[in-house]
Amino acid sequence: MARWIKVLHSDDPTPIAQIPFVVRAAGKELLLMKTLKGEWKSWEPQCPHQKASLMGVRPDEAGCIVCPLHRYRFCLEDGYETQGRGRLYLFPIKEVEHEVFVFL
Ligand code: FES
Repeated sequence: MARWIKVLHSDDPTPIAQIPFVVRAAGKELLLMKTLKGEWKSWEPQCPHQKASLMGVRPDEAGCIVCPLHRYRFCLEDGYETQGRGRLYLFPIKEVEHEVFVFL
């Protein structure tokens, strides 16, 4: 059953904005990032096209990540590929009193 799972505690080190990092929760690996606007994003670490790793891929100025294998570009606002070639799943994420939760 899906539920909100705490992935960052209030005493964890403060993440650097715009730098994705990996967390493990409920047996899954997820990428998390805090944007410059202070919003949280979380997405799967594999590209939805052919499952290339998205680890270490940083967003561009427009807030999109480009898969290193075939250069599909996914916007972290809604997950859609900018040329309509699929969608990266974005996990629901929220911050409550300096703790971060992902809906898994
Ligand atoms: S595997 Fe990512 S674009 Fe093809």
